[in-house]
Amino acid sequence: MALLYFIYKNRSVPYSVVQRKALFKAENRRDSEMLKEDNRKVMLEKTIKEHQYQASSLLEILHKTQELYGYINKDLLSFVAESLKLPPSHVYGVAAFYNYFRLKQPGEHVVTTCLGTACYVKGAEEIISAVEKEFKVQRGNTTADGRLSVFITRCIGACAMAPSIVVDDEVIGKATKEIIIERIKLLLEGKKP
Ligand code: FES
Repeated sequence: MALLYFIYKNRSVPYSVVQRKALFKAENRRDSEMLKEDNRKVMLEKTIKEHQYQASSLLEILHKTQELYGYINKDLLSFVAESLKLPPSHVYGVAAFYNYFRLKQPGEHVVTTCLGTACYVKGAEEIISAVEKEFKVQRGNTTADGRLSVFITRCIGACAMAPSIVVDDEVIGKATKEIIIERIKLLLEGKKP
């Protein structure tokens, strides 16, 4: 498919209608695949770069990390520490000092709902409320059995596909409560979505 797209982009001769349709489809599929990627790490890296990798920006970067992921686990703490060239123990100490930061390891499965403007307008609040009700868990928390955590975030860079929900690192665009609930049920049953 990548080769087809390359040829299409670099074509020098006209294609037939059938060929153009197939190539146009391939291009669209490629765009929507790109939108489905989890861009949170890229956005976090961008924020760290904007702060010029300054150790003095640690708090702002921890805020951004939690804003993007809903929590800051060990891997994210290590990533921040490494990026800012700080000892992990220092980064952990700062994060643990503030109640605001959620450091608890999330549940086995994590659903993060974007409540940025584009997603909110397209009904993300309705989706997260339905998830809370269905699985008896409040946003920011984990079910009693530790199997599902529900977090909220602000803009994950997939506004064109709003409302966007991240389920175990997969971004689901144009989400509906039915799609998300079904997906969570499959995961909890141990089935491949
Ligand atoms: S507002 Fe939800 S992805 Fe941008």
